[in-house]
Amino acid sequence: MTSIPSSLPLRNDLIGEEPYGAPQLDVPVCLNVNENPYPLDDEVADTIARRVREVAQNLNRYPDREHIKLRQAFCDYLAYESGTRLGVEQLWGANGSNEIMLQIFQAFGGPGRTALGCDPTYSMYPEYARDTFTSWKVIHRKGDFTIDLDKTIEGITSIGPSIVLLTSPNNPTGTNLPLSDVKTLLAICEQTQVAGAQEGTHPVVIIDEAYVEFRNPGTPSAVSLIPEHHNLAVSRTMSKAFAFAGARVGYLAADAGIIDCLRIVRMPYHLSAITQAAALAAFEHTDLQLKRVAKLRETREETAAWLRSQQYHGSNLQVADSESNFLLFGKFDDRMLVFNKLLSRGILIRVVGPDHWLRVCMGTEREMSTFRTAFAEVLATIDKQQ
Ligand SMILES: Cc1ncc(COP(=O)(O)O)c(C=O)c1O
Repeated sequence: MTSIPSSLPLRNDLIGEEPYGAPQLDVPVCLNVNENPYPLDDEVADTIARRVREVAQNLNRYPDREHIKLRQAFCDYLAYESGTRLGVEQLWGANGSNEIMLQIFQAFGGPGRTALGCDPTYSMYPEYARDTFTSWKVIHRKGDFTIDLDKTIEGITSIGPSIVLLTSPNNPTGTNLPLSDVKTLLAICEQTQVAGAQEGTHPVVIIDEAYVEFRNPGTPSAVSLIPEHHNLAVSRTMSKAFAFAGARVGYLAADAGIIDCLRIVRMPYHLSAITQAAALAAFEHTDLQLKRVAKLRETREETAAWLRSQQYHGSNLQVADSESNFLLFGKFDDRMLVFNKLLSRGILIRVVGPDHWLRVCMGTEREMSTFRTAFAEVLATIDKQQ
């Protein structure tokens, strides 16, 4: 709860708003914010310490505003991970993809502009919109949480948004967005005039690929479409698969024109020398940083199968198909009851997404075993109470 004195001239539209954030509770098993549960290897931590020490003496100077070395490292990583080689002018970094996204809204949103997404989706999007006076419109996903392509096209052509924001894999559902759908939407956007903007402007299409490394092998990334589409941008992060949430590093791959728009709105020297050094150090050990991704994918498949075998009120639980490191499962008459019973057993998951569903993020083997034991107990106590 906030305690803001009414004498403060807080913006009218922010009065009564609460700061966003999942609970940060000190419990034994935290499966609520889609982190990578495995700590960094000693070797990686040592390189980070060394690289940060190297820049420490120069902290009297501002860092490289254009973070060129880091942008080159993003290029190399993308070529390795997605098979598409872009130029350094097509990459951009910031403090988490949260900051990347805010810069996108600052550059392309604003009063009179609309951003369009497909819900249920990441709960921060409406906040970026609110903070930049952008209107936020959603098209509802289908029952299986895939996007409703026809309705999305209808929304784009009738609204003329300046930003079309799609998430793949989606949070909180884990749903992949097929590249064929991205291509269809790009073709529509390339013919759509943005409402309230100069004649001849078209929506930017942002694909948020925060969890993309967890996708099923063989699934292409939207990065492969960047060379042919000037209005496409793909946002990524080192927070999830790369096990680097604490360092706060996100990045965007896009046409150099889009990057230049973000350079207008970014704060000067937004990426500290320490952040740049730490991220470069982590990229010296890309394979070590990513070594648990396959394991987490396996954990996801095993956990999904196990959850689907569990009974609630005499029926098997539902689990949304996920290509991410989390699972959305349900449906529960009273999801808060399930959440609280798990919490009282030391396990924190997330109440998010559509009513009656809960989201659990993949932990270590030991954490998942604790989760399964506790959750089976919770289901048994609920059944007994009926
Ligand atoms: C879909 C999605 N995009 C972006 C982010 C932000 O990640 P970060 O700011 O850590 O890069 C998250 C975080 O959970 C997310 O779920």
